Amino acid sequence: MCGIIGYIGSQDAYPILIQGLRRLEYRGYDSAGVALARQDGSLAVYKARGKVDNLETVASARDTSGNAGIAHTRWATHGEPNDTNAHPHTSQSGRIAIVHNGTIENYAVLREALAQHGFTFKSETDTEVLAQLIEYVQNENHCDLVEAVREALLQVEGAYAIVVTEQGRPDRLIAARKSSPLVIGVGDDETFLASDATPIVGFTDQVVYLKDNELAIIERGKPLQIKSLDTDEPSDIDIQPLKMSVAQLEKGGYDAFMLKEIFEQPSTLLDCLRGRITDDCSRVVLSGVVENAERFLQAHRIVIVACGTSWHAALIGKRVIQELCKIPVEVEYASEFRYGNPMIGKNDIVIAISQSGETADTLAAIQLAREKGAWVYGICNVVGASIPRNTDSGTYIHVGPEIGVASTKAFTGQVTVLTLLALCAGQIRGTVSREKVREVAQALMKMPETIKEVLKLDGPIRQLSRMFTYAHNFLYLGRGYNYPTALEGALKLKEISYIHAEGYPAAEMKHGPIALIDREMPTVIIAPNDSLYDKIVSNVEQVKSRGGSVIAIVNPGNDKMERLADCCLEVPEVPECLTPIVSSIPLQLLAYYIAVNKGKDVDRPRNLAKSVTVE
Ligand code: M6R
Repeated sequence: MCGIIGYIGSQDAYPILIQGLRRLEYRGYDSAGVALARQDGSLAVYKARGKVDNLETVASARDTSGNAGIAHTRWATHGEPNDTNAHPHTSQSGRIAIVHNGTIENYAVLREALAQHGFTFKSETDTEVLAQLIEYVQNENHCDLVEAVREALLQVEGAYAIVVTEQGRPDRLIAARKSSPLVIGVGDDETFLASDATPIVGFTDQVVYLKDNELAIIERGKPLQIKSLDTDEPSDIDIQPLKMSVAQLEKGGYDAFMLKEIFEQPSTLLDCLRGRITDDCSRVVLSGVVENAERFLQAHRIVIVACGTSWHAALIGKRVIQELCKIPVEVEYASEFRYGNPMIGKNDIVIAISQSGETADTLAAIQLAREKGAWVYGICNVVGASIPRNTDSGTYIHVGPEIGVASTKAFTGQVTVLTLLALCAGQIRGTVSREKVREVAQALMKMPETIKEVLKLDGPIRQLSRMFTYAHNFLYLGRGYNYPTALEGALKLKEISYIHAEGYPAAEMKHGPIALIDREMPTVIIAPNDSLYDKIVSNVEQVKSRGGSVIAIVNPGNDKMERLADCCLEVPEVPECLTPIVSSIPLQLLAYYIAVNKGKDVDRPRNLAKSVTVE
């Protein structure tokens, strides 16, 4: 939520900052801005409401020279999206400019106190308060900006990643973080700062992940300095390799990142499985589970916390873990977990699932679980993100950068890892038979090919989507493993097409939602040949007898559904626990094409951002 970038070096900063903002735009696109610190001592600030394109239009008519600068793309929290509330924010004198990702919780108190000292405010943002506070501290203490930033941050409550620049100091940037991510790219005589590694890719492959409560001083011609915000003591600098390619960050000929990411699933699933299943499919080895075998042996209960699509994956995880490990599992929205007086015991395992690894609610749930003594296991995509660094152990899903705001390949990766976890822990606990391990492992190994088959539905789904583009409401139904798939299908549709859609357990329909069904309301039903198939057929009959149209996701040889449904989309048959992987992909495509037909910006849906780093 909000993307920040900074650059200092010998190249022109502006094009690097703009390109970086474009890569970060998935984090928010309410407004964008840039501040350039020039050799002549001036500080130029340009801002515009809306997407980065608008900023380019504004800035390209002005002087964009300078070898150092900071920039921001905003997802509005405090104050409406307009030019004034856009970052960078400057201090009263205009000397200091700052970009910020996060939320300053005590900003109202600080603003009031600064107003009493004669500070006036142009914007409604918490970030401007921080810029003013830094200037106030500097004026009061007659200190260098580094010390002023540190002192100011000690007065701040909340979350932040900031980069600060100053008039007359084009040779220095200052950055700090607490609970919001910040990555430093270390190049030859140039340094990059960004909310995630994507803007840095292609410039350097050496990065430092700034830790919570650290402050970095980047000064041209001098080595990078990092120190503790609390103690002012120097910190160790841990330079890590960045394994990401520019191609992974481009659309690669697709119209949208979302479509590219849907089509990447055969290869992302292969990456996700790599090295985790033995060649003969007799064993599953997930190092995070094997190394902590005792935890899984002793576990009385597993609690999974997550948000959005990751929460849907968690619901599938619950079923597969209960089936294969015989451990009771509870699934909680991370945002509700910490307000529900959770009862966590020392034999409970908490699993946190997050694509980005930066979701504020999930991070807060982890923190609370750890305070209560729980052992926490993370399932994450972004390497080096906050969640993997704040959990006791975990597994990366390794599906590569997911840029489309609507999560697709991360969902199938999460379900895959949860299945591997259930198989691996089930082996350790002796609760899963060898035959079952082999059956599911073989199907997983074939999954990339299976998904290629599913993707052949692209053309038919594109055609089908035209018939449903103007529906105002959709119902998604599924049972057992595919009730969460129904929830996920509905979420995909509503977030990118803005059509109201509800996911329901199919049998619950008759307890209320059936009243909604008429000729105008299509129902999407997930009906693989599983243990609940016959029951779902009767649910479809109930929809049809009320005049509703039905799109069914089925397996081959499905005569009953073929006769009942208006349209059947056939996906290959797989073991029941894997049906959500194959069934979710047609739903991703359906949502995508309906949104495209409606002319929506699929990768940047309104009001949304990719990683939700505010509560
Ligand atoms: O990065 P996370 O997995 O923690 O994100 C959780 C949700 O914000 C995310 O899944 C969101 O619901 C997506 N837009 C769904 O497509």
